[in-house]
Amino acid sequence: MKDSYGRNIDYMRVSVTDRCNLGCRYCMSAKRVSDTDILSYDEIIDICGKAAELGIRNIKITGGEPLLRDDAAHIIKTLKSIDGIDTVTLTTNGVLLEEYAEDIWDAGTDSVNVSLDTLDKETYRHITGCDRIDSVLKGIDMLYDHGVCVKINTVLLKGINDNMDTLRLAKDRNISVRFIEMMPIGEGRTFETVENSRAIKGKRLEKKGNGPAVYYSLEGYKGSIGFISPISSKFCADCNRIRLTADGFLKGCLCYDEGVDIRKEKDIKAAIMKVILSKPKEHCFENKDDITEKKGMNEIGG
Ligand code: 5AD
Ligand code: SF4
Repeated sequence: MKDSYGRNIDYMRVSVTDRCNLGCRYCMSAKRVSDTDILSYDEIIDICGKAAELGIRNIKITGGEPLLRDDAAHIIKTLKSIDGIDTVTLTTNGVLLEEYAEDIWDAGTDSVNVSLDTLDKETYRHITGCDRIDSVLKGIDMLYDHGVCVKINTVLLKGINDNMDTLRLAKDRNISVRFIEMMPIGEGRTFETVENSRAIKGKRLEKKGNGPAVYYSLEGYKGSIGFISPISSKFCADCNRIRLTADGFLKGCLCYDEGVDIRKEKDIKAAIMKVILSKPKEHCFENKDDITEKKGMNEIGG
């Protein structure tokens, strides 16, 4: 359905847990412990079914780290069978992919976004606090070799990984590497955004996927490079999404704490409509004092 600004809302991001097995310094610093009462399998399927009746066509399963739930692939498989749902995709840090690659494939997952900020072991440890890069790379190989569409998401930190070395993953394989600007949400508030407005020598490609990424081809690269630039190039006018947090709070924009606690609502469909109709016009990341969201990215679903 359309929101009050005429935007067609057909995409819902669903955070299935706020827990994570990494501790990225701009997200889960000091490994926050979670006591969140996360949505159950039944609750997720029910809410997504009602959302589909209202025109949600595409769903992203995100976290925290969604693969910490052993029913993540089961959730995806069931969502794929709901009338009206076209695509179900997954965002993961990749650490557990080796274990779940086959289930993800069998569930019919349409694409997998792997969050990976660097290919350098030491830098990886510096950013995530963990030593799991080998598992992530193996997991990416497994999915790619299985024929699953894989995209890499990289957030740049000034002076740490701004050599953009993850781009190498697009060299010999048809993988998109996307650079996401750091947003002032959660721990991200304490970091400086490396803006995506760099000179790109390449050919702008057709729009693809459900999101705001702008893609370019690069000479000598089989895959493409993408930019997601909420700060340097606000894309709110084309925003198509709502977000369900790990504890069942449905919201219209990353930036604000407005929304509804789905579990307290008798009529879930009416509650989803309310969130779509009250979706704000745009974020206010440029005025940090006006940001009302206090939750972390791990709870909202990055
Ligand atoms: N700004 C932008 N991206 C973020 N992520 C986590 N926190 C932030 C932030 N403050 C990203 C992760 C991952 C995705 C789920 O969200 O790096 O790619
Ligand atoms: Fe975990 Fe992703 Fe947050 Fe890193 S960015 S701590 S992988 S939820």
